[in-house]
Amino acid sequence: MELRPGFTSRIGFILAAAGSAVGLGNIWRFPYLAGQNGGAAFLVIYLAFIFLLCFPVMVGEIAIGRAAGRDAYGSYTLLGGKRWGYLGLFGILAGIFILSFYNVVAGWAFGYFLEITFGNLLNEPNFRNFFGAYVSDISDNLWFSLGFMVITAFIVSRGIQKGVEAANKIMMPALYLILLVLIAYSLTLPNAWQGVRFYLVPELNEINARTIYDGLSGLFFSLSLGMGCLITYGSYISKDQNIVRSAAIISVADAMVAFLAGFMVFPMVFSQNISPTEGPALVFIVLPDIFQDMGPVLGRLVGGGFFLLLCFAALTSTISLLEVPTTYMVDQLKLNRKRVVWVLALLIFILGLPTMVSQGTVKAFSSLPFYLNRDFLTFISDMCDISLTVGGCLMCLFVLTTWKLKNLDAELAIGNPGYEHSFMRRYLSLMIGYVCPAVLGVLSLLIIDNYFGLGIFF
Ligand code: PHE
Repeated sequence: MELRPGFTSRIGFILAAAGSAVGLGNIWRFPYLAGQNGGAAFLVIYLAFIFLLCFPVMVGEIAIGRAAGRDAYGSYTLLGGKRWGYLGLFGILAGIFILSFYNVVAGWAFGYFLEITFGNLLNEPNFRNFFGAYVSDISDNLWFSLGFMVITAFIVSRGIQKGVEAANKIMMPALYLILLVLIAYSLTLPNAWQGVRFYLVPELNEINARTIYDGLSGLFFSLSLGMGCLITYGSYISKDQNIVRSAAIISVADAMVAFLAGFMVFPMVFSQNISPTEGPALVFIVLPDIFQDMGPVLGRLVGGGFFLLLCFAALTSTISLLEVPTTYMVDQLKLNRKRVVWVLALLIFILGLPTMVSQGTVKAFSSLPFYLNRDFLTFISDMCDISLTVGGCLMCLFVLTTWKLKNLDAELAIGNPGYEHSFMRRYLSLMIGYVCPAVLGVLSLLIIDNYFGLGIFF
């Protein structure tokens, strides 16, 4: 196989993988889940799961990608035969579906950014009404998500080095910088410390099966695991890279953004005496209210900065989502990258149409029939949570039964002297081989039960 151009540096890969992980999941979903689940209690659980479950799976995926040096399908096929190739395909498909709806939500953030910074959004009398009208307006949805998809495709079409790596090298540091500036500002607001206290003092009696479940169900989504994203990025790294260390840094970088997002959001929420348990509305309804109260100039700056942050976080994720099927087409079918990227982007944009009309525009998609009983966006993101958790479980079983732990160990030892005899080797073998697949298997059943209201466990 001819050599493909890969990431030029270790930091380039780490930023790109962290960029994939850090996304709407961290800045939008995490704070509202934490708000609903007792603040710090949730945080502790979330962090523990990242290091117990996600970090080993991440190591496994990167190792598979680097060992095989191909796309998700090609990697599983090369290391495990055609049958495992289907697992790769399953992941690629999951990624395509995720991008189809993720791009629509990213489009909302993009629209908010443009309309706060350059338009009159902050003059709206009622953001709840505004948001409802905005997400059910088909032309807003079409234009903003088209815009977001075009930017994503443009970056991916430039290739791993000049596109993916270069974009992440700019956007990730910018993202951290904006986040820190917003936190610094947030902490100066009245009552800010009450927000910090709510966030940091764990209400241990708030921890129950539900909190734990909420922490777990979206975890693989939040870290971009279970669908071959890190297999794909891992296939572009060099043999001298220490995979275990890189995966640890990526996990910390992701957890850090979720953790920090809380310091930005909760002081703002408490400064306005708003309940932190608002749920998904937090970012699009509650925060704009707060930006409005800051006055026209500061509101534009802080609000615009916040939505720019959200756009960067989303863009570094959509880039990775589009890269997965692109690498597949380029590696397997030897097609021209530029052409593949634009065709895929168009198809995935079209696949996003049901999501665009799912918030009240078209009734059939706004409330699906039977026990599906939810809007299309919720339905498809629920399906993705299930696919990623199942995908992660199967990835571990692939390593255990087919690729074998000893090959994993050998791959991880490259670029990591001393690994063979380390405690980390034993820990990772135990987790990837036994603990993760068992826990993820049970978790998959729980999620299926919960999302479809089967009533077996819940
Ligand atoms: N991890 C991203 C987020 O938190 C979403 C994502 C999922 C990206 C799967 C790539 C693959 O928003």
